[in-house]
Amino acid sequence: MIKNVLVINGPNLNMLGKRPKEHYGAKTLAEINELIKCEANNSFLVDFYQSNYEGDIITKIQDAISKYDAIIINPGAYTHTSVAIHDALEIYNGIKIEVHLSKVDEREDFRKINFVRDVCDKTFAGKLEGSYLDAINYLKNIK
Ligand code: DQA
Repeated sequence: MIKNVLVINGPNLNMLGKRPKEHYGAKTLAEINELIKCEANNSFLVDFYQSNYEGDIITKIQDAISKYDAIIINPGAYTHTSVAIHDALEIYNGIKIEVHLSKVDEREDFRKINFVRDVCDKTFAGKLEGSYLDAINYLKNIK
């Protein structure tokens, strides 16, 4: 049974609300986090972490080992560049879900390169904040 979940957001996701709305919608990260908490509805505890720094994200993933049953991660642009985040997720032994607001696979070619997908259990993308809520519901349905 899942008791606690860590939601990690990577670079520039602290700027949601100011980023291109056609890809990322109009909500701020704080608003999205509130929606996530409501969707989790006390099924499990949810913690939130955002950083613009690759190394800090890696340390957070390492610290999550044996502390959190699942990670939901939107690595932002590091999705397309970070072997190091791939390696950290590979070590993490809980459930790993990759999330993107935008239709990341249908955009520029450089966004089709993805270093995290093969070490995650599931991906939700292209539904704006709904992608995070889909991830929460996926976890709620794991018994
Ligand atoms: C993103 C997609 C990435 O390509 C981009 O660099 C982001 C956000 C998304 O949520 O759609 O910062 O991960």
